[in-house]
Amino acid sequence: MTTKTVLTFSNIHKAELPEEFRKDDVRYSEDFAKHFIEMFSAKGDVVFDPFAGFGTTLKVAEQLDREAYGIEFDEKRANYIRSQIEHQDRLIHGDSLNLLDYDLPDFDFVITSPPYMERHHKENPFTAYSTEGHGYQHYLADLGTVFEQISMKMKPGSHALVEVSNLKHEDARPTPLAWDIATELSEILTFVGETIINWEPTYSFGYDHSYALLFKKTER
Ligand SMILES: C[S@@+](CC[C@H](N)C(=O)[O-])C[C@H]1O[C@@H](n2cnc3c(N)ncnc32)[C@H](O)[C@@H]1O
Repeated sequence: MTTKTVLTFSNIHKAELPEEFRKDDVRYSEDFAKHFIEMFSAKGDVVFDPFAGFGTTLKVAEQLDREAYGIEFDEKRANYIRSQIEHQDRLIHGDSLNLLDYDLPDFDFVITSPPYMERHHKENPFTAYSTEGHGYQHYLADLGTVFEQISMKMKPGSHALVEVSNLKHEDARPTPLAWDIATELSEILTFVGETIINWEPTYSFGYDHSYALLFKKTER
């Protein structure tokens, strides 16, 4: 039996965010996280999210009896995640660009959605848009820096899954973010392939779909 390469998930979250976060709801859904955590890890495994956001990965992974670790740059979001999970010390309020500075176990599975950048954006996504950026190519290289470090912590044969979409703009050419990230990370990990995620009722950035990009830690 072949694995389906287009999957449909509801984009409606079971857990509602507190009022202060609702306008920035960048979460993927619990069902999406559950599907891939179950596919690529087992009970007791270490699941890691370098861009933890509002903690969907950590919450779902804990519910599935995985050891869930994550890093989140934004302090308010980090505090919110801690209020939602059992093992609060496993969520680091920090910067994934310095991932190896933190005391983390080796990973059995990595699942994440990075902060997005449109190619004409001025702000730096890796400071949660709080400082001036250095351009789109620099952003892609920074994501590579994060995944170089992730790769060193991934167990041989383990997988990393990145949820990301391309971005349409009204007045400019689209940003092929998903494809650029696939190319960048293929320099670091082995690209296994993509699943198209059809989001119901819709997604964002001019699309109804995004991509689950799958990578594997292999000897290179
Ligand atoms: C797309 S969101 C992730 C949402 C998450 N998948 C969820 O369901 O809640 C990306 C997150 O990365 C965080 N972030 C940005 N730069 C970071 C960095 N350098 N280190 C760690 N987290 C960072 C942002 O603050 C944002 O919350």
